[in-house]
Amino acid sequence: MHDSVLSVTAPASGVRGTVSVPGDKSISHRALILSALAQGTSTITGLSRGEDPAHTRGVLEQFGVEFLDQADGTVTVRGGLRHEPVDVLDCGNAGTGIRLLSGVCAGYPGLSVLTGDQYLRQRPMDRVAEPLRLMGAGVDARDGGRLAPLVIRGGDLSGITYEIPKASAQVKSCLLLAGLSAQGPTTLIEPHPTRRHTEEMLLAAGTRVEIDGTAVTVHPGLLSPAEHTVPGDPSQAAFWAVAAALAGEIELPNLYLGFGRADFLNILRRMGADVRVEESTGSVRVVAAPLRGVEITGADVPGIVDEIPVLAVAAAGAEGATVITGAEELRVKESDRVASTVAMLTVFGVHAEERPDGMVIHGRGDAAFTSGQVDSAGDHRIAMAAAIAAVARTNGQTTISGWGSVATSYPGFIEHLVAVSGATVNLAS
Ligand code: S3P
Repeated sequence: MHDSVLSVTAPASGVRGTVSVPGDKSISHRALILSALAQGTSTITGLSRGEDPAHTRGVLEQFGVEFLDQADGTVTVRGGLRHEPVDVLDCGNAGTGIRLLSGVCAGYPGLSVLTGDQYLRQRPMDRVAEPLRLMGAGVDARDGGRLAPLVIRGGDLSGITYEIPKASAQVKSCLLLAGLSAQGPTTLIEPHPTRRHTEEMLLAAGTRVEIDGTAVTVHPGLLSPAEHTVPGDPSQAAFWAVAAALAGEIELPNLYLGFGRADFLNILRRMGADVRVEESTGSVRVVAAPLRGVEITGADVPGIVDEIPVLAVAAAGAEGATVITGAEELRVKESDRVASTVAMLTVFGVHAEERPDGMVIHGRGDAAFTSGQVDSAGDHRIAMAAAIAAVARTNGQTTISGWGSVATSYPGFIEHLVAVSGATVNLAS
């Protein structure tokens, strides 16, 4: 499926409607992992049905964790890692999965081998391997310790104080999870604050976690079971928010709008979009307005790290240039997102240039985008950003190859695209 091609022809009447996005992917991974580690039975409602969390569940099943799907969509989890994994652990395309699970494996006294698909096997794993080794885990990996498969001999960890070199919630979360079974506290210091799901959910599970500015400390301990309710994924909502900002009006109910996840709304506001937020319900309404280019710098990046491809589409439909710097981390995402975003925009007739740590996008203002053939580079967010550009600003037919990657995070995306835009779509394998 990962090489399927979506063609999209938009009726040029803009976008309108309400979109209930899937459960948050980051929180889904964590709900599965914390339920698996808990002493007792947890429930998860609103879990993302993407392939990425499904892989995390599959890995935990190999440790003997039991998951039961209820008829109403709730998943019941009987916690407890019961035995050493019986086979190689396949994390699919999921960077969050492999990095968080490597922390779990490091804490478990046994041997684990973690791997993933061709894209995941090209992404850097030394960022978790090195600090896990400092904690006392045996960690080896391909390419001199840099790339998956990762081989982890876990157990007997000691808490450390560690300065994380590049802002990464995945690295922080990996080490927090490993710290749960270490001797003594583990303190992590971030260069810039990142999303706090792991801290928030560990606290809710009764763990001692202290946050002090950019430092977080976890104390070892057992987790209580919980009733997890996964809110809507703001990173998926960002696609519709940009479509609305460029070409209509969309309501997005029930989103997670907590720390480090809703910053894309501020960027859209800075661009001139009409964004209204109802904090109490997590509802967001975005209405089109003339957009202008903005500057995005390194301090902004951790808060919008997954939204940059679609914010780049907003920038392409703005008046003036948008300059993004301090975003070199984009080069090691599901694809090199500096290169793949610029290549995608170029297909739409947008003048965009790569920089080592970001990009410059020369907005087309009101002018329509051209149509053409986009290569998603196997990256779900590039594929979906291209589909948004197609329905918001083109008149012809856009084709997007590598569409199958969208199943990793947003299996119902096409239905939502058709519902808000009236586009004619065709999916060919
Ligand atoms: C995530 C953290 C971010 C983000 C990813 C999800 C998480 O990755 O890009 O999609 O759930 O912790 P980094 O930690 O590499 O920045």
